[in-house]
Amino acid sequence: MSFPATRLRRFRQSPALRRLVRETRLSPDNLVLPLFAVPGEGVAKPVGSMPGVFQHSVDQIVATARLAFAEGIRTVILFGIPDHKDEIGSASWSDDGIVQRALRALTAEVPGLVKIADVCFCEYTSHGHCGVLKGHTVDNDATLVNLARQAVSLAQAGADVIAPSDMMDGRVGAIRQALDAAGLADTPILSYAVKFASGFYGPFREAAESAPAFGDRRSYQMDPANGREALREAALDIEEGADMLMVKPALPYLDILAELRKRWDLPLAAYHVSGEYAMLKAAAERGWIDYDRVMMESLVAIRRAGADLILTYAAREAAKLLAAGWVE
Ligand code: PBG
Repeated sequence: MSFPATRLRRFRQSPALRRLVRETRLSPDNLVLPLFAVPGEGVAKPVGSMPGVFQHSVDQIVATARLAFAEGIRTVILFGIPDHKDEIGSASWSDDGIVQRALRALTAEVPGLVKIADVCFCEYTSHGHCGVLKGHTVDNDATLVNLARQAVSLAQAGADVIAPSDMMDGRVGAIRQALDAAGLADTPILSYAVKFASGFYGPFREAAESAPAFGDRRSYQMDPANGREALREAALDIEEGADMLMVKPALPYLDILAELRKRWDLPLAAYHVSGEYAMLKAAAERGWIDYDRVMMESLVAIRRAGADLILTYAAREAAKLLAAGWVE
């Protein structure tokens, strides 16, 4: 039927009618808050390009996670900035590593919190690349061995979910095998399966002190121009045993997310990354956009495209708005 019998505006006439037919909902249950752990005590160092984001010492990570949990954000993802870096990033698999310590403290002090551990090397290597170097490039297979060590160490320290973000080929299988061999068969893997070599990670590299000392990450992260290749990445990770897949960044890659949603039924995550967050903050600071509105619209759009969960620096802000009865 067409106009005038059909009038799509009929359901748009009041907030209650719009709510009645709303297809996508946001809940704090779907949001994951990224946290950056640094050595020290009482440290909350603001990240310049990400207003509202801090590098936190372990005690402050615990305090922040406790607040977030009370606001409804029950999952965090942890990144670590170690005391010292070396060529291979060995601080990442130390029992006494910064993220390992944060995990133990969170397990003891914030019961019920789900702790995802990012698994990568760029924060831990002196050269800032995501693995072991061979000449000027990252040695894939040598890196797999170290990724497995890091993953096992993080899971043993209390990580509930292991999230490899390095983009080495074969890493999901290598990590799965190592976890199983260590008696951690029940620890799920959230694979950053489709991670593009993106300029949107700029502010994160300030937060995580992980910018590459030379070159870039294009030899391991994906070409932003490739959509079909994204499906191959996803298929391989599923075969290797990934329990959940991530697309990253989020907004510029919603087509990829929607395609993955159509093809597979495992849970999907999207990372609303640092640059996406920084753009909203910067435009809002100038009074050019309404931050709350554009941030919530972004998160709804990411959910609509097919994400079950969203990793976002705006998680606590969104939870507060939702608790206050946010409706558009
Ligand atoms: C580590 C990693 C990065 C991000 C998440 N894990 C940075 C990178 O690949 O350079 C980016 C997250 C963000 O920008 O918010 N490899």
